[in-house]
Amino acid sequence: MKHWIFATNNAHKLVEAKDIFSNFAEIISLQEIGFNEDIDETEDTFKGNALLKAQAVFQKSGLPCFADDSGLCVDALDGKPGVKSARYANETGPVDHALNNQKLLQNLSGVENRNACFKTVICAVGFEPEPLFFEGVVYGHIATELRGNDGFGYDPLFVPQNYHETFAELGSVIKNTLSHRWMAMENMKKYFSK
Ligand code: IMP
Repeated sequence: MKHWIFATNNAHKLVEAKDIFSNFAEIISLQEIGFNEDIDETEDTFKGNALLKAQAVFQKSGLPCFADDSGLCVDALDGKPGVKSARYANETGPVDHALNNQKLLQNLSGVENRNACFKTVICAVGFEPEPLFFEGVVYGHIATELRGNDGFGYDPLFVPQNYHETFAELGSVIKNTLSHRWMAMENMKKYFSK
């Protein structure tokens, strides 16, 4: 079995990755390799930030490693919050998902076009001479009120295409077969299955 480090401190993402890559690769967390530095996401693209995180962990560990960067892009807000999704409501302070959702609802108050998508870019370093990139996108719309308790971030507001429920109502089992991160990881899996 291959051993791949997933450069994330997000417990939800780690569970998702272990699930998606089960029987394919053993996913090792940053905690397991004793990496506890904070990596500042200073780039202004998902691709740039994913590369930054994967490279930082690869340089320290010397082991094949992948990182993702994701966010919510809302049509009526010119693609915002985008790469700033985590700190939409609180640019310099701690990540506050409840405040982010509140701000999003306020900014879309009375707006008819509520189309949005979640995007993920994964960067994998240490597998090939050059970094590899894999993308995933899920389209949908922003609900007019918070619904559901599962998941994290904007999940209580995001309704994927062909569904009426939000990601937070659908729950992780369904979300993990539809999500932007799932799609990017599936693309990565396909690449390594060749
Ligand atoms: P990250 O770069 O993947 O950590 O994502 C940045 C931010 O985007 C998160 O803090 C969330 O606000 C939002 N986000 C990314 N993926 C998801 C998701 O699957 N559900 C809800 N929010 C998400």
